[in-house]
Amino acid sequence: MSTDPHLSTDPLMSDGERAEARIRTDDRAHVFHSWSAQALIDPMPIASAEGVYFTDYAGKRYLDFSSQLVNVNIGYQHPKLVAAIQRQAAKLTTIAPTFANDARSEAARLIAELAPGELDHVFFTNGGAEAVENAIRLARLHTGRGKVMSAYRSYHGGTAGALTLTGDPRRWGSEPGMPGVVRFWGPYLYRSAFHATSERQECERALQHLREILTVEGPHNVAAIVLETVVGTNGILVPPDGYLAGVRAICDEFGIVMIADEVMAGFGRCGEWFAVDHWGVTPDLICFAKGVNSGYVPLGGVVISREIAATFAERPYPGGLTYSGHPLACASAVASINIFREEKIVENAREVGTNVIGPRLRAMAERHPSVGEVRGLGVFWAVELVKDRATREPLVPFNAAGAANEPMNEVVAACKSRGLWPFVHFNRVHVVPPCTITADEARIGLDLLDEALAAADNHYTGSG
Ligand SMILES: Cc1ncc(COP(=O)(O)O)c(C=O)c1O
Repeated sequence: MSTDPHLSTDPLMSDGERAEARIRTDDRAHVFHSWSAQALIDPMPIASAEGVYFTDYAGKRYLDFSSQLVNVNIGYQHPKLVAAIQRQAAKLTTIAPTFANDARSEAARLIAELAPGELDHVFFTNGGAEAVENAIRLARLHTGRGKVMSAYRSYHGGTAGALTLTGDPRRWGSEPGMPGVVRFWGPYLYRSAFHATSERQECERALQHLREILTVEGPHNVAAIVLETVVGTNGILVPPDGYLAGVRAICDEFGIVMIADEVMAGFGRCGEWFAVDHWGVTPDLICFAKGVNSGYVPLGGVVISREIAATFAERPYPGGLTYSGHPLACASAVASINIFREEKIVENAREVGTNVIGPRLRAMAERHPSVGEVRGLGVFWAVELVKDRATREPLVPFNAAGAANEPMNEVVAACKSRGLWPFVHFNRVHVVPPCTITADEARIGLDLLDEALAAADNHYTGSG
């Protein structure tokens, strides 16, 4: 059934208002949105976007501190990236994965060159969840084992296997899910599951905990340990030095495949091409998506070690996708990687994080009682809000909704009214702008966030 928006004939409306009304009416009538109660949302129509800003139909411009879903690493409408997609569209828009094509070959070579160690083959997917699904399949077939371990504080995607691996409540609606998944606690000193009081203790105890879980599960049954190199949506949890190397050592000891999910943390976000580079650790499989081409065309994939790729030299790999290695998507990845190199975008993310975002957030933590902790690296930061610094009680309860989430809603509203678009999850504001953000743009956004945090302070109940 189609809907005829009567508003579009109102003579008092401008063309922009009419366009917006039409979008809203069709959206509400026909679009079924992700993760949402359909009747309780009112998605904002976006008219245009450029650089680190997007604009609504009323002409209001937002500085994007979310990079949408932490994927627009190169910023909006990068002219060279748009032109590369247009060139590829004019040349070859689609071809089956059974053929070779120049865009896919080059994208695979560039990604393999960037990846650490002997990770030199790439299986392309349409996004992050499919990358995780295929990484699990590769690990299970390579090892001949069934179990897969993942962290409670994690998100790995919205498909069956990836959602079972996911630790956060988005998993609940799809349970029981895929058999064979075992979860563990990763390091998170601020809310330590191990009663640790230093990074070093947290690291040692988290590794010991992983080892104990493996012992009771039977390490010979475990195909893979999957973890986000830096946990993203579930808190921007930067692992203590030594943790990833420790996981690598455990995997080596028991012949387990180490899968780094870098869908969010990779391609510049952490001030490195791959986040594992920060610690010099080489996993067996790396899942990527988002920042590889900033979502200008859907793309993801798995970078595969030589050893695992060799398992499928004589034996067919039992997995595939109609659009694996889609030429338009791969051409945009090639162009994006080249632009990143020319414009030193990875370096920019590192410098803005180190010189501007980190110091400014630390200063805010001193001024605002509601800021319990700030942490991050590159353009990947979290501001954790609490009701009380002494007890560390979160500003809103775990997985809060409705009235219980009101304090966070007020922080969001305070940001948006100032023209800042924040990324918020549970009791945290994540500062995750495009990797291309300049120091000045970052300062402007941080000043707005600073003002908006007064809304959180209003709910502070602690004494200090
Ligand atoms: C760490 C991580 N893995 C996987 C995914 C799933 O990616 P996609 O939504 O492209 O399927 C996400 C998405 O946010 C993610 O953050």
